[in-house]
Amino acid sequence: MSDSGNNHDTIERFERWWIVFSGALIAVFVVLLFYAVYTHSDHMGHAEARAPVDEIMAGEIFASPGLTELGDNRFRLAMVAQAFSFQPGDVTLPAGAEIELHLTSRDVIHGLQVPGTGINVELIPGEHVSLRYTFDEPGDYTVVCNQYCGVAHHNMLGKIRVVDDFSATAELTTDEEPPADTQTSWMERGQQVYDQNCAACHQGSGEGIPGAFPPLRRHLPALAGAEGGRDYLVDMVLYGISGPIEVEGQAYNGAMPGSAQLSDEDLAALLNYTLHAWENEEQLPEGFESYSADEIDSRRGQQLSPADVFERRQALPLDQ
Ligand code: CUA
Repeated sequence: MSDSGNNHDTIERFERWWIVFSGALIAVFVVLLFYAVYTHSDHMGHAEARAPVDEIMAGEIFASPGLTELGDNRFRLAMVAQAFSFQPGDVTLPAGAEIELHLTSRDVIHGLQVPGTGINVELIPGEHVSLRYTFDEPGDYTVVCNQYCGVAHHNMLGKIRVVDDFSATAELTTDEEPPADTQTSWMERGQQVYDQNCAACHQGSGEGIPGAFPPLRRHLPALAGAEGGRDYLVDMVLYGISGPIEVEGQAYNGAMPGSAQLSDEDLAALLNYTLHAWENEEQLPEGFESYSADEIDSRRGQQLSPADVFERRQALPLDQ
């Protein structure tokens, strides 16, 4: 009898001890949580606004994403996520400066994480989030999407270069036209635009992914050569396209977002690059002239939907 009484006391003592211990553990976690929020809350995303996507995108900050100097060693970096790229996809920032990040998504839920930093935000269409961060260490940082957003999610990457000598590398905007006589600089710029905005789906080789993303190799010169194809290509990059198409015997039924947010110069460079890369140049129609920024500009303002562009494609005399 006395044995079982002792056991009972011992068990009770242990139980009491475990209750105190569990309670203390929870208290420690709560304290840590408050500590983290208090000291690191700047690195967490704050919802600045929630509104229809079009409204958010048309606002002052996201209408032309990129880096803006606010003065006093402070910068604002506006970035837009879309399937399957970040816009801008390659940014140079000064080390030690306070960066105000403003982020949103244009289409579906994406993530924006910069490994090695505390930056890790979920980007929801229709929500504008902001956070502050200071990159103290110069170097190249990779921006990754960590929310599954579609077939090319794993290719959705961006780059942030942090440099000590910022003013020397500063090229904040890309609205300047390269000198007209330097075909190579157009090609370089076009390739840059392509790598950042298109390569995730259409691949660096221009071969696409059979069944998912149509190839641009061979296919683009065929479009450019068709009657009405020249204008169609501009409309396609500006407004996107969605609908069932067939390229080289392979069926595709996807949706490509438009890239009207890119400058006329960038889009002209992009088209010229893709029409010349991957031996496409050899298949261009005789005397085909490069696109100019003015030509891109002349096709803006049509308010086409991706489905409208699909209709235009259907009207092209393509033999396939
Ligand atoms: Cu965007 Cu995954």
